[in-house]
Amino acid sequence: MVDSNRTYELPVLAVKNTVVFPYVIIPYITDLPQSIAAIDHALSREDKTLAIFAQRDPQSNNPGPHDLYSVGTSGVVRLFARSDSAVQVFLQGVERIEIAEIVSRDAFLMARVRSIAMIEEQGIETEAMEREILGMAKKYLALAQPNLNVNIPQVVPPGEDFRQIMYPLGQMLALPVERSQALLEASSLTAAMHLLEEHLHHEIQILEVRKTISEKAQSKISKNQREYILREQLEAIQKELGESNPAEIEFTQLQKKFEACKLPAALHDEVEKELHRLQQIPTMSPEYQVSRSHMELVLDLPWDAATEDNLDLHNARKVLDEDHFGLQDIKERIIEQLAVMKLNPSAKSPILCFVGPPGVGKTSLGQSIARSLGRKFERFSLGGMSDEAELRGHRRTYIGAMPGRIIQALRRTGVRNPLVMLDEIDKLGRDFRGDPAAALMEILDPAQNCTFRDNYLDLPFDLSRVFFIVTANTVDTIPKPLLDRMETLHLSGYGEEEKKQIAIQYLIPRQRSEAGLTAEQFHLPEDTLVGIIHRYTREAGVRELERMIGKLARKVAIRFAEEVTDPVTINQNDLAEMLGPERFFIEKLRQTLPPGVATGLAWTESGGDVLYVEAINLAHEKTITLTGHLGEVMKESAMAASSYLHSQSRLFHLEIPPGAVHIHVPAGAIPKDGPSAGLTMVAALASLYSGLPTRSDSAMTGEITLSGLVLPVGGIKEKVLAARRSAIHRIVLPAENRKDLQGLPDYVLTAMEFVFVNSIAEALAAVIPGLTEE
Ligand SMILES: Nc1ncnc2c1ncn2[C@@H]1O[C@H](COP(=O)(O)OP(=O)(O)OP(=O)(O)O)[C@@H](O)[C@H]1O
Ligand SMILES: [Mg+2]
Repeated sequence: MVDSNRTYELPVLAVKNTVVFPYVIIPYITDLPQSIAAIDHALSREDKTLAIFAQRDPQSNNPGPHDLYSVGTSGVVRLFARSDSAVQVFLQGVERIEIAEIVSRDAFLMARVRSIAMIEEQGIETEAMEREILGMAKKYLALAQPNLNVNIPQVVPPGEDFRQIMYPLGQMLALPVERSQALLEASSLTAAMHLLEEHLHHEIQILEVRKTISEKAQSKISKNQREYILREQLEAIQKELGESNPAEIEFTQLQKKFEACKLPAALHDEVEKELHRLQQIPTMSPEYQVSRSHMELVLDLPWDAATEDNLDLHNARKVLDEDHFGLQDIKERIIEQLAVMKLNPSAKSPILCFVGPPGVGKTSLGQSIARSLGRKFERFSLGGMSDEAELRGHRRTYIGAMPGRIIQALRRTGVRNPLVMLDEIDKLGRDFRGDPAAALMEILDPAQNCTFRDNYLDLPFDLSRVFFIVTANTVDTIPKPLLDRMETLHLSGYGEEEKKQIAIQYLIPRQRSEAGLTAEQFHLPEDTLVGIIHRYTREAGVRELERMIGKLARKVAIRFAEEVTDPVTINQNDLAEMLGPERFFIEKLRQTLPPGVATGLAWTESGGDVLYVEAINLAHEKTITLTGHLGEVMKESAMAASSYLHSQSRLFHLEIPPGAVHIHVPAGAIPKDGPSAGLTMVAALASLYSGLPTRSDSAMTGEITLSGLVLPVGGIKEKVLAARRSAIHRIVLPAENRKDLQGLPDYVLTAMEFVFVNSIAEALAAVIPGLTEE
């Protein structure tokens, strides 16, 4: 480039919004007649050159010399395209010029221009700046045009004019016109470089900030987008599978259940309202879970579903006999009930209470009744239950609230008429958490239970179709008002013969098959069975007996598992080896009784029992001593017995020694109470005072009065059976109790001798031989 301040004439092109730098080619399009004329003129020249000046005011379409910046660029024009009204050209900047004078102004400006020389410093500083600019340019390009692969050298190649790099960079920055113009006008190379550096720095900063902003936005968008896309896909998959989102699925399921659920008309609207309310609750809120579980319970409950009762009496008889031996009274009562239900389907289900010692088949009878009726069976124990909420549920406001046991049972069975067995009602507790008896009262009262309200469910549910059977070992501890609402059926204990039959018909086959044995492999003859009943069990029911048989069966099963053996028959002699030593040998010690000991009979929750009253004289004591965990009533009986004998000593020829007696009733750990031991106490004392033993084959029971009468007592059946179990076959009973023997099996009655007495004197005569009455 030649920088002699020469002048020459050129047509002037005023450009808007841009500055054309030397060494730069830019496309340019215009439709202004003045500009087109100037271009045409330039094109007609041999050197195709014109003077390019930026105009100060871009609005002006016909700018005069004063509207132009004073410094411009001479440039070569090349035509690219032309239409009727516009031309498109390329302009290539050549050198810096300024206008010296305007030559003409016709269709366009013609000016004499002068080229402007530039001071070109040299040295380390310039070189350093050059490199700095090159580095920045590289950075700028990387930011502005990351896809454009422009190769910018690190140093200015030898022989190259730095302006050839600097001006295109200035052009590329597309700065506002004033700034570009300032760069163009810079008089020295260093001044120009400073300006360019400033611009580059500014632009780079802007680009960097823009980049981080856009990156942030990008990452936000991409995360959202990812989730969005995944959701869309999930939805598409679910749609494909015919599903929708979990909450919706749940809701539709509930909705379906609601439609299928035959709610009582009165509750329909209430439940529907709650269902719609549920839809409004956000699924994340804890309230949603509570409300949903409640809704599920409501819709799961068998409001209408019921099993059809099998009221075929023959079938019922057959089923009941299949499962249980004997128990005729109870079976008859069940058949009666079926007959009633057959004739009057709307009759309320009765509430039965089976009372009896353990292991007599109360629970299993309930199961059997359910089977014969074809009803679903549910059972749970009330034993130890002391929290009312267990039966009636917790209010839903409590964390972890649950419906009560009754509602749970109904939900499980899925029908509104199951047979529900409530075991051990006599062991019901009661404490600060409330009285479950109160809740039971409502559940078991046919007049109230058609609108039973569980706290959790909080809607009335009709329990009147439920067949309730309650079991207890004793009625004594059942709250009276509860007892009133039920029909009690007593199951007494079994005698030896019945136990034998139960074992042969039910227990042995069951235990045998449980052990995996066949009838041939395992044989338990009758006499062995009797041996087990007598010497290894002492119970009213048959639970222990069944356990013993099970034990034998398993021992035999081991033999078969270990080696091939011949069928096993278990003899009496094998019992000691297989079951261990005899459990009950106490009777042997009591085969003869010393004076002062008498045999009594007691009734307990686990059936009857034989009990012994022992008395000795303590010469130095003044007051009577009673031990053996005796209750108040029993203690009073002892006093009465003692007083009676003192008053009647002459009658019985008794020499009552000075001092006082100590009366003890063994099995001291077991609490005993009741008036029925009175007779036994008198006999023990009379025996002590007379020195004559009582008959060891006889047992007695009866309440006494001071005037010498013997009054009737309860639990006769159990007591007789207990006596029989202990190999006692003579029983002294109050005459009034004769009627109570009716329910006992004949074989017991014939094997036993009963002595009925009205007075103490008669009783003593019967049990103490030799004690003669005057
Ligand atoms: N008469 C009977 N015929 C056949 N099996 C019987 C008979 N009585 C009881 N059983 C059997 O004895 C076992 C114990 O009976 P169950 O469990 O019904 O006693 P329970 O009266 O409910 O006692 P608990 O008061 O201790 O609950 C059961 O396996 C039952 O089948
Ligand atoms: Mg039971």
